[in-house]
Amino acid sequence: MNRVPLRSEQWFDRNDEVGIRHRSVLATLGFDPACVCGRPIIGICNPASEFNNCEMGLTELAQIVKRGVTEAGGIPLEFPTMALGGELLKPSDLPYRNLVSMDIEETVRANPIDGLVLLSGCDKTTPAQLMAAASCDLPAIQLSAGPKSTGYWRGQEIGAATDLWKYWDDFRSGKLAQGEFSELEQCISCSYGTCNEMGTASTMAVLSEALGMMPPGVSTIPANDSRRRIAAEIVGRRCVEMVKAQLRPSQIMTPEAFRNAIRVLSAIGGSTNAVIHLVAIAGRLGIALGLNLFHEISASTPMILNLKPSGRYLMEHFHRAGGLPAVAREISGLLHLDCLTVSGKTLGQNISAARCYDREVIKPVGSPMLPSGALVVLHGNLAPSGAILKASAASDHLLNHSGPAVVFENYLDMMARIDSPDLDVTASSVLVMRNTGPRGVGMPEWGAIPVPVKLLRQNIRDVVRISDSRMSGTSYGTVILHVAPESAVGGPLAIVQNGDTIKLSAAEGRLDLLVSEQEIKDRLARWSPPPSEHLRGYPRLYRDHVLQADQGCDLDFLRPDSADAVRFVPPIVGRG
Ligand code: FES
Repeated sequence: MNRVPLRSEQWFDRNDEVGIRHRSVLATLGFDPACVCGRPIIGICNPASEFNNCEMGLTELAQIVKRGVTEAGGIPLEFPTMALGGELLKPSDLPYRNLVSMDIEETVRANPIDGLVLLSGCDKTTPAQLMAAASCDLPAIQLSAGPKSTGYWRGQEIGAATDLWKYWDDFRSGKLAQGEFSELEQCISCSYGTCNEMGTASTMAVLSEALGMMPPGVSTIPANDSRRRIAAEIVGRRCVEMVKAQLRPSQIMTPEAFRNAIRVLSAIGGSTNAVIHLVAIAGRLGIALGLNLFHEISASTPMILNLKPSGRYLMEHFHRAGGLPAVAREISGLLHLDCLTVSGKTLGQNISAARCYDREVIKPVGSPMLPSGALVVLHGNLAPSGAILKASAASDHLLNHSGPAVVFENYLDMMARIDSPDLDVTASSVLVMRNTGPRGVGMPEWGAIPVPVKLLRQNIRDVVRISDSRMSGTSYGTVILHVAPESAVGGPLAIVQNGDTIKLSAAEGRLDLLVSEQEIKDRLARWSPPPSEHLRGYPRLYRDHVLQADQGCDLDFLRPDSADAVRFVPPIVGRG
């Protein structure tokens, strides 16, 4: 079989002074310059940073990946990217997803890289890397950091974030003392690795596997499990083979693969953030994923996974029960099984021998957690371009509800007044927070507005909440998110007034402001945008180019003109 010419040969396989200088870089690293030509250069993208405990395990995994690359005849070269730690990046990590995707794309564009191993972990790292992989379209394979160990508090298993939100409400309402809460703090994050519920990081790792970009069975392996290290060696070897076979992301992330990913998202009760990310990744390939597709697939998919925040268990249990292959086998009748994956095999081949080992964790399709509709897309005069509700983590009695609006101008206003005894709020109120969307403030995870203490003390643990922001995948409640267009660009959320009646009908997929169309028009005519902060640097670039939530919040200029557009032009390699 003829050997495929390598991209890196433009740098190394040349008999001139430029080739000598290029090979001298590898010589400095200890590679014999006489033996580098013809060996694929595998870029290992490693965002590990002490600013992000979720991804600290990647440092060790990178070393093992390198061993795998070398075994298969490649040359592994590691490079860093900005760490996207979901905990510390403020006010929002979402804008930096796009920045990191550009960072990776430009690193690849300008360097002699033939294939990519993408080491991921925290919420935004996985989609950022997949967006970059789509734009570069060089052979690429992803490996996540894995979920952190299960925590225990007073003998009970606790998730890294879902249980924090729950006990925080107990603390605020006086059910938990300061000492007890401090004790809980020490048990919440008891190892490195990603949040161990079906939060955004877990969802995106599982969806990467469902898309075919991560090897089968790998996404759920706990961070500290030796099988993750073995996977790292396999990933390194496999990336070299993919370069030799020229197996590219565009052959893997097809429209059918995205349908599979949306199907899996619905079956696992995954994070609402995944909607934004899948739209953004697909957008880089010229594939349009409308919100209606999410609604349609969710409405015909049983939710079968019993994991927090929609259910009871944690990622460790999911892995033990069989992981994604077991879920995919269970819903195989709903999947496109002929989609190609990084293993070189189809999804159907990957899962043909999968088995479920715990029916409490992965339910049979015949008796699911929820017959369908884990994610609901809402439209109506309050969300003309759509909004998202995670029905699987909401309260049944609020899914069809009308109530008076209690409006907060922005996040600071909400925080200042939410627990005020003067807040005019009851169990039927609908909390509305505006100016928290992508252009307004980078769309932070502020959407799970705290239930006012006044209500918690009456044992009311959920109310309908609406905003143009996101929420953590680990959160729960009847929380309507991603309202588009956002209020900062004049979406109808901007003109809701205290006392207006808002009607949510999850069954009909509707979210409406029960105010006459004329009154809405009049209010919008009187509306003026909130004062714009003077921005410079990346925040300015982001504000000027970010797309709305229903379009994935990517930057408009990062999308190709069409699916056929040449996405990646190699550089002219000459003197530096
Ligand atoms: Fe990183 Fe949850 S904050 S995975």
